[in-house]
Amino acid sequence: MGKIINYCKIKNLFLLYVLISMAVILCSVKISFALKSPKTLSEAIKTGRAYFFKPYGVNGKSCATCHLLDKNVKKGKITIKAIKGIARFFPKWKNNKIYTLKEQLVHCIVYGENGFRPKKDSNIIKYLDFYLYYLSNGYRIKVIPSKNTH
Ligand code: HEC
Repeated sequence: MGKIINYCKIKNLFLLYVLISMAVILCSVKISFALKSPKTLSEAIKTGRAYFFKPYGVNGKSCATCHLLDKNVKKGKITIKAIKGIARFFPKWKNNKIYTLKEQLVHCIVYGENGFRPKKDSNIIKYLDFYLYYLSNGYRIKVIPSKNTH
């Protein structure tokens, strides 16, 4: 009897191991999506856009879950800003430090998407940064915000 229980335990552990490995493989496939380097400008923009809509972390949220492209969203006391034109506020002066858009992106991924902390020069940050600046073409730079507009 004891042997059978032991055997079952081992079998269950083995199944668990297989499931975990499959999950890890699936996750890495997911994360490595769009990592091949774009060769043209339009591919680079598409890659940034893909990162915007793709969940990165474990809670299934992407940038697009919280941010709309061209409309602010009110959630309780917080206004989550529209993405179009957002790069004009960066780099910003925050807590007596210069705060770059890349730092903001890492912050949103870690805390908004419960993701791993991406490096600032990783592809995801590079292409998101590029895409956000691209969507801010033509907006007037506003590094020092006035209260009413930001
Ligand atoms: C769970 C919701 C959530 C997710 C997911 C999220 N954000 Fe945010 N984001 C916020 C909140 C809340 C703020 C702070 C409020 C604000 O200033 O807009 C913010 C702030 C920002 C800001 C700075 C706004 C400013 O002018 O100060 C940028 C840029 C930004 N997010 C981009 C992104 C990008 C790109 C992603 C995807 C990688 C993302 N966010 C994912 C909620 C989220």
